[in-house]
Amino acid sequence: MSDPPWPPPLTWPDQPLSDGVVLLDRFTETDVPRIILGCTDPASQRWLPLPSPYGEVEALTFVKSRAKAAAAGNELTFAVRDAADGVAAGALGLSQRGYHHEADIGYWTAPDRRGRGWTARAVRLVVRHAFATMPLRRIEILAAIGNVHSRAVAESAGGTFEGVRRHGLPTGDTDDAAVYSFIATDAAAGPP
Ligand SMILES: CC(C)(COP(=O)(O)OP(=O)(O)OC[C@H]1O[C@@H](n2cnc3c(N)ncnc32)[C@H](O)[C@@H]1OP(=O)(O)O)[C@@H](O)C(=O)NCCC(=O)NCCS
Repeated sequence: MSDPPWPPPLTWPDQPLSDGVVLLDRFTETDVPRIILGCTDPASQRWLPLPSPYGEVEALTFVKSRAKAAAAGNELTFAVRDAADGVAAGALGLSQRGYHHEADIGYWTAPDRRGRGWTARAVRLVVRHAFATMPLRRIEILAAIGNVHSRAVAESAGGTFEGVRRHGLPTGDTDDAAVYSFIATDAAAGPP
């Protein structure tokens, strides 16, 4: 009998994830204008390792490369949509850490949809899906110490602040990282 693949691949939910306010599914090429809006925003450019300038070519590369990473089971990049009309508000990526059944979550939300609690809703949905369907031990959010909005999302979604990981961002940036974690027994990982 052959060993199961290690680490286990991340798997898409059978149906889009939704709480009635946001709906999470896959990006398609029709989302390109929304991706450009989100990724050209100064805050996104400041805190994320994004190409600059960022246009149609970069957005199409994003859609294709994330689909490829998902097919390999390394990363699921969800389009976070307005459940009412399907417009893409932002992106949330769940990435395999490659060891000890750990994953991390990163996100951006387009400026016209910020401040509505949608990113925190998306984090909760993905954390629940991940612990309910995959053998993950731990999920982390690593936010730059000075990125107050990202840290507010992690806290609002129920992440536990553990401390500071010096020069510890997955982006390779030299900012220190605030570490937030979720484990399967956290209330945030359970039913609403
Ligand atoms: C960080 C980011 C994703 C937040 O998105 P958002 O959709 O506005 O966040 P939410 O509306 O879900 O807010 C969650 C919490 O953060 C707080 N918050 C969000 N934006 C805020 C702001 N501008 N001022 C004060 N608080 C803010 C909300 O009040 C909420 O807290 P609450 O639940 O206690 O009310 C968005 O600002 C962004 O895309 N930034 C650029 C990219 C980035 O920094 N990504 C993270 C890299 S680790």
